[in-house]
Order: sequence, then C-alpha cells, then structure tokens
Amino acid sequence: MTQISETPEAPSMGRRQFMNLLTFGSATGVALGALYPFVKYFIPRSSGAAGGGVIAKDAVGSDILASQFLASHNPGDRTLAQGLKGDPTYLVVETDGTLSDYGINAVCTHLGCVVPWNGSEDKFICPCHGSQYNAQGKVVRGPAPLSLALAHANVENDKVTFTPWTETDFRTGENPWWA
Ligand code: FES
Repeated sequence: MTQISETPEAPSMGRRQFMNLLTFGSATGVALGALYPFVKYFIPRSSGAAGGGVIAKDAVGSDILASQFLASHNPGDRTLAQGLKGDPTYLVVETDGTLSDYGINAVCTHLGCVVPWNGSEDKFICPCHGSQYNAQGKVVRGPAPLSLALAHANVENDKVTFTPWTETDFRTGENPWWA
C-alpha cells in the first residue's frame, strides 16, 4: 500500500468515483462498471463487525443505520451500499417496509459490470451485455451464467452489517457458487 502515498491524488480520485458509482451507478453503469476494478483497489476496507462481517457504508462512507435507512427508503427499494470486500451490494427493503436479511452483490456474473436496479421492470438489468436478474438477484437472462452473489444483512445496534453467505442459495436450492 506504500504506492498510494507516492500518488496522493489517486486515493481521493478513487473514492470520489466510488461515490459516483453508488449514487449514479444506474445512469452510467457501463462506464462505472468498467472502472470498478480500478476503483475497488483504492477503497479502504469497511470497518469490522462481529462474526467476520463488515458494517455497510453509504455513498459518503458513513455507517448505515437501519432506523435512518428505513425512514428514508420505500418498500421495494434496492439501494447500493459498500459491502463485503468493498463490493457494491444492494440493501433490500421488503414490501412490508422491513430490511431484508440478505444483500445482493451488484457485480454482474458475466464480466463484472455493476448492475443497476430497474424498479419499473422489477429487475436488475446489466447495461454491458443485457443480462437480467430478478428482484432477488436470480439470473433470468444471459449471457450471465450465474445469479448475483448473496450476503447476509443483519442489524446490530442499529448498524447494518454484512456477513458472508455460505449456506444454500435460497433462490436456486444449490450451494453458493461464490463461497
Ligand atoms: S457484464 Fe453484465 S452482461 Fe456482461
């Protein structure tokens, strides 16, 4: 990581682009999807949480508090947060207004673009090559070969935390390909 100190502009640029990715990813998914591997390199790891998880971060790098998050999001929303290993991960608000206990990794299983949520279609639609995933991230149209990865999303002391999902994928009944 000593290289970063030799290029002081690089971390702030990477961070700004990551903010843009979280905020405007759905509008500019292709370009930012291509930038993702570069940006990810510069993003500091999220602070730890119990059980080997991380606290979900919002677009400005703040811990996501469940009470505030739910007060400002509607049932059915899918919202990008910084998740495990810095991966952009959707938090899901269920139709009853509660926070879902799973998060959906936004990295397309085809070639790695960040997949935006399309609320009017009720799907995630990848801007790069058109792969589609249902509202739970299960692949419904290729070329993506696999469903979006899952993470557990739980609330501890009002902070939303992600932990690795190693159990059966409830969408397919199969072992998780990402574990
Ligand atoms: S990277 Fe998503 S369809 Fe190709």
